[in-house]
Amino acid sequence: MVCLGNICRSPLAEGVLRQRLSEAGLDGKVEVDSAGTSNYHIGEAPDKRSVANAHKHSVDISSLRARQFTAGDFEQFDEIFVMDSENLGNVLRLATSDAHRQKTDLLLNQSSPGSNRAVPDPYFGGEEGFEKVFHLVNEACTAIADRLTTQLR
Ligand code: 4NP
Repeated sequence: MVCLGNICRSPLAEGVLRQRLSEAGLDGKVEVDSAGTSNYHIGEAPDKRSVANAHKHSVDISSLRARQFTAGDFEQFDEIFVMDSENLGNVLRLATSDAHRQKTDLLLNQSSPGSNRAVPDPYFGGEEGFEKVFHLVNEACTAIADRLTTQLR
């Protein structure tokens, strides 16, 4: 899961996907991680507003720490989900093969295939922006968990 800072959207997406996979009985079968395309917040905990919103939805992301996306992530992970087109561009600039490009997509294409919708950046707004992020991310993560339940059966 990739956004700009790895403190608002992508840690929430990481936490929600972990939760949905756990509920699907896929604990320990899938490696989930998140990163930011920027170096702005490396080592920091998620934004307080993201932690609070996750908690409200029974997801604990308080122990996550921000890191920067690296080209090595293309080797480490089978699927890379990005929150918006600007960060998708940032990620794809680090790709060095068609395989890297093919495993990378906007997150919301998991819940709305082909829509190319963005998870909007909530950083400069209020709590309602975080709630909107949760619902968008939750739909996509539920779709991913449903798909992996079939694929990994
Ligand atoms: P995120 O949100 O990309 O969802 O983690 C942001 C976090 C920090 C900044 C922008 C967006 N920033 O400009 O520092």
